[in-house]
Amino acid sequence: MRSIKVKSPANIAFIKYWGQIDGDLILPYNDSFSMNLSGCFTTIDLQVTRSKKQELYIKNYKSKIFKKAEGPALEKVLKLYETTKVYVNAHTNFGFKIYSQNSFPKKAGIASSASFFSGLALAFVTAFGETLSEKDLSILARLSGSGSACRSIPDGFAWWHKGQNGSSSFAESKAPSEYWDLSDIVLILNYDEKKVGSQEGHKNAATSPFFQHRLADVEKRLKDIDQAFALKNFRQFGRLIEDEAISMHSVMMTQRPPLYFWSGHTVEVIKKLIELRKTGIEGYFTIDAGENIHVICEKHNEEELVAYFNKQREVKDIIVNHPAKGARVL
Ligand code: PMV
Repeated sequence: MRSIKVKSPANIAFIKYWGQIDGDLILPYNDSFSMNLSGCFTTIDLQVTRSKKQELYIKNYKSKIFKKAEGPALEKVLKLYETTKVYVNAHTNFGFKIYSQNSFPKKAGIASSASFFSGLALAFVTAFGETLSEKDLSILARLSGSGSACRSIPDGFAWWHKGQNGSSSFAESKAPSEYWDLSDIVLILNYDEKKVGSQEGHKNAATSPFFQHRLADVEKRLKDIDQAFALKNFRQFGRLIEDEAISMHSVMMTQRPPLYFWSGHTVEVIKKLIELRKTGIEGYFTIDAGENIHVICEKHNEEELVAYFNKQREVKDIIVNHPAKGARVL
């Protein structure tokens, strides 16, 4: 038996991916830009066995035991196994047991599918005895179905080029993790798993009357954030990520059927953050497909923000993140 251990980070998008031009190839309408998270990651132990069985075991956040997973979770794993086999041009099969565990709650808007599928793509490629360039690995991770997984492959801050076809849509590092001392303070308001997966949501994004408007807007925001990032202009950067989160959620709430990820608590916490900012403690929010909030700040404001949100009744848990490396074989 051979064991391949992999660690891969979740990532938080400053400029988001929402909507697919091509749902089979997972081609997005726009570029997106993210940061890998040091405190939110998946570790995978892929054990290649002599048997033909292909099994998945998952240990959830704060749980002590691995549970066997079947149904859609296992189907997606088997699909990525087949995609990898074709991608690396392998001709033999292997049985496996996958043991996967997260350092954070899954399906709660913290990109658990991105960390899992990016890690799994790397683990399968390694198990087939191959190595791929970062670009090719990013493309394979994109093809897992969780497109944003492609951004968890490169180090630090990743830019996903939307591309025009299957081979030109991939993520690359815009800057290494040391580039900017940013923090992502994840405020867990609810541990519940979301009911609608991103895949279903992406398919309907273009039904929102605001979608075309968002696309025009996002192109400008990409240019602006590129500049703010180059100059490390945090205030400008923060404003852009908030505009972006609101733009994506406006589309989500107005697509058919609509997706309301925010709860009353989400709104309360946003208001508190905005009030706090008036006192000079600068944190800006972004939100993925879930009700939990990511507060982005510069490192020197982290302690104060954590202390403040620790005291708020809406906040059940806090995970502090810094920019991290991409997927790695351990
Ligand atoms: O990669 P998916 O299919 O899990 O979709 C991710 C979508 C968002 O997290 C909402 C936005 C993003 O760019 O990460």
